[in-house]
Amino acid sequence: MRRQDIVKQTSLEVITNTGENFLSKWIKACSTKELEKGEMLDFDHDDKKILLANLNGKIYATDRICTHADADLSGGILSDEGVTCPLHLSTFNLKTGVPQNLPAEIPLKTYNVKIEQNEIYVEVE
Ligand code: FES
Repeated sequence: MRRQDIVKQTSLEVITNTGENFLSKWIKACSTKELEKGEMLDFDHDDKKILLANLNGKIYATDRICTHADADLSGGILSDEGVTCPLHLSTFNLKTGVPQNLPAEIPLKTYNVKIEQNEIYVEVE
C-alpha cells in the first residue's frame, strides 16, 4: 500500500467514525421568526461574517463580505437570482455562492443550514 493510500484511508475513517464529519459544528443563529421571506440577516461567529437569507421560504447561509471588494452583502438586494452587492452590483447565487456577473469572480463560501424547533442553525467547521 502506498503512503498516499494510507493517508486517504485515515481521513476517511475520521469522517465516517461518527456517521458525519465530527469537525463541523452547528451553531444556532436565530429563530425562524427573525428571518421572514425576503429578508436577510447578518450573523457573526468567531471571525466568520455570515449572511442568512430567506429566499421564497428557503434559508441560505453564505459569507457576508463580497469577494470583490469587501462590501457587506447584508446591505444588498435579495431577489430570485440571489443577493446583489450594494457596491458594484455583482449578484451571487445563494445556493452555490457563484457570482452571476462581473466584477466579482470568486464564489462566496456557502454553509449548510438546518431548522430545528423553529431555530435556524448554520454548520461551521
Ligand atoms: S464590492 Fe461587491 S461587486 Fe464590488
